[in-house]
This record gives sequence, C-alpha cells and structure tokens, in this order.
Amino acid sequence: MSINWGILGAGNISGQFVHDLLLSNTESSFKHIVKSIGCSSETKGQSFIEDCKLTDENNVGVKPSIEKYDDFYKNADINIVYVGTPHVFHYEQVKNCLNNGKNVLCEKPFTINAKEAKELFALAKEKDLILMEAVWSRFLPIMNQLKAKLKDIGDVRRLFVDFGYDADLDNCEASSRIRNNALGGGALLDIGIYPITYSRFLLDDKLGKDHSHFTYESMMTVDETDKVDYNTSVVFQYGKIHAICTCSNYVDNISPFGRVEGSKGKIELFADNPARLRAFKITYNDGKTEEIKDDSPYLGFIYEANGIAKDIENHEESKVMPADETLLVMDIMDKIRAKHGLKYPTD
Ligand SMILES: NC(=O)c1ccc[n+]([C@@H]2O[C@H](COP(=O)([O-])OP(=O)(O)OC[C@H]3O[C@@H](n4cnc5c(N)ncnc54)[C@H](OP(=O)(O)O)[C@@H]3O)[C@@H](O)[C@H]2O)c1
Repeated sequence: MSINWGILGAGNISGQFVHDLLLSNTESSFKHIVKSIGCSSETKGQSFIEDCKLTDENNVGVKPSIEKYDDFYKNADINIVYVGTPHVFHYEQVKNCLNNGKNVLCEKPFTINAKEAKELFALAKEKDLILMEAVWSRFLPIMNQLKAKLKDIGDVRRLFVDFGYDADLDNCEASSRIRNNALGGGALLDIGIYPITYSRFLLDDKLGKDHSHFTYESMMTVDETDKVDYNTSVVFQYGKIHAICTCSNYVDNISPFGRVEGSKGKIELFADNPARLRAFKITYNDGKTEEIKDDSPYLGFIYEANGIAKDIENHEESKVMPADETLLVMDIMDKIRAKHGLKYPTD
C-alpha cells in the first residue's frame, strides 16, 4: 500500500509537509513515497532533500528526482501532486497537474478567488481526478475531540479565534508573498482563512452548499502602499451564536488564541500556530477543569495526506474537505475583499 507524491515548490510549507510523510513511513505500513521535487533549480531541490532529511530508509529506498516544473508535470510516476507555492501560482499549476492526469492536494488558499476555484474543480471532474484544498486543520484528530466536547459546555454562545502573525512588515521585502499584491499578499487569504475555518468547522455540521444559515459582517484595512490587508476582522452569526474571527500581520496572537463560550463553561484553545490546534482547556462554571493535549511528533500534515490517499484509493471526493466547502469559503473571502476594495490581478 503506497502512493507516489510529487512535491511542487521546494519551500517552507512543502518541507513541513514532507517531514510528516517521512515520519509516517518509519512507523506505518502505508507508504507515502516522495518521487519527485518540482522546483526552479537542481541546487534548490538538493538542499530541500537535505533539509527534509530525506533518506533511503524513510523514503522506501527511493531517491526523488529533481525536475523543472514542465518535466515534473509529465512525470508518469507521480500519482498525486502536493502544491506548496504562493497562492497566485496555484491556479495555473493545479491546471497543469490535472491536464497531465495527476490528482492534486493544493495548499490554502486554494486559489485567489472562487471563479478560479470553480474552474479547477470542473476540470478535475472532467478528468475524473481527485482534487482537494489542503485545509489540514479539519483533519486533525484533536479538532474532532474539540468538536465532540462542545456539548459539554451547554449552549454555545460565542466563539473567538485570532490568527496573528507579526510579519515584521518594516523589514519584510516588498516583493515577499506577504506584502506583494501580485503574489496574493495580505492577511485574509494567508491566515484569516483559519479563523473562518474554525467557525465553519465548530458551528456548522454541514458543508459547502448544504451549509446552515449564517450571516457575516467584516472590517478590513487595506494598506495604502502595499494594497493588501494587514488587519481583517469578521463576525459571523449562526442563529444566536457570534463567531469573532480576526487576523493580523501586525501582531502575534496571544495565547490562548481562541475561546468557545457556552452556558455551562468555556473552552480555551492553545497552539504555537493556530492552524494546528495542540491543546484545549475546558473550565466549567463550577470551577472544574479538563485539558486535552496533542503531543504527537507529527506537525499535523499527515492526516490530510492519509485522507486524500484514501480518497484516491476509493476514488471519491473528500467528505472532510469537499470542493463545495472550498467554494463557500472562497466566496466569503471574495465578498469581504470586494466590500473593502482589495483586488488581486486575477479578480
Ligand atoms: N498549511 C499551512 O499552515 C501553510 C503554512 C504556510 C504556507 N501555506 C501556504 O503554502 C503556500 C506556500 O507558502 P510558503 O510559505 O511555503 O512559500 P515560499 O516558501 O515562499 O515559496 C514556496 C515555493 O514557491 C516558489 N515561489 C516562491 N515565490 C515565488 C515567486 N515569486 N515566483 C515563482 N515561484 C515562487 C518557490 O519554488 P521553487 O522551490 O520551485 O523555487 C518556493 O520554494 C502559500 O499558498 C501559503 O498560503 C500554508
């Protein structure tokens, strides 16, 4: 039982993703084999392999090839491509993968806007291939534990989730994917997607076009020079419940980064990176407390990787992160951006 991965983009997040695949190979009978690294240069690919500590032992005896993007797309050994490049490249790269018969797991945000996302899902359907946005948070076992515990705090009244990442904007290159409008810069698409995901995951049992009724209002500050957002806040209302979702590139979020408040108690959320919940603490109204932690050595990407491997085997769309849910969240982000005048070149 194995699956052959092609990793597109030898950067930051691809390295973290590959870490989990290799760790899993050392302890699971299912093998995630890294067959190829698609990247801009041989040197970069070599450093990536070294930095990931990829060896014969943890990659099932396979030495990955390092290929320029065009050769990578044509590599017939690849079952599935992980796309780990900045947002603006996802649309063309996913299209190239699908047109070359490859299943795809594409980093969030899936595309720049819902229009591009729709086209890609239609193409995947036409080609009979599996395509999923890598919303890894939804696949974490601790997220399911959190959701199961909501009933213990009675009627949920409010949810707060903040993802703050101090990008040191004064010293951050204007050409970086954080600041550059042409690279899809700004906070909402990069990190704001996670608080929105928490609200969708925790407050709605339904997905995509079957979603429960909700409304939302937003505030966004678009930087006058960079023309991207560094502060965005959204409040969703599901019935009587308010979900306050915030993101910022000016400041780091404090800990706990999130809180769920119910009639019988509250739950605080803890993590170094809010996308990867590591622990939560329940404090009941009578003062009793309960803590649940995830100390797993996995960074957290293995769960989505196992999920899509199973979907490919069963030849069915993910039930955890279906296309419809991606389209719903992309549409929310499109509308927030449109309201506040944040445009990207492909809008
Ligand atoms: N799941 C998560 O928690 C998480 C965390 C961080 C990022 N992400 C997502 O992952 C994606 C990549 O983020 P990252 O931080 O990994 O990015 P990164 O390290 O800056 O870039 C990844 C790769 O993309 C290519 N690339 C970067 N800038 C480029 C440019 N200007 N022109 C052409 N190619 C360029 C390079 O590929 P080569 O190696 O081929 O040169 C680079 O190695 C983003 O969409 C981001 O939202 C997700």
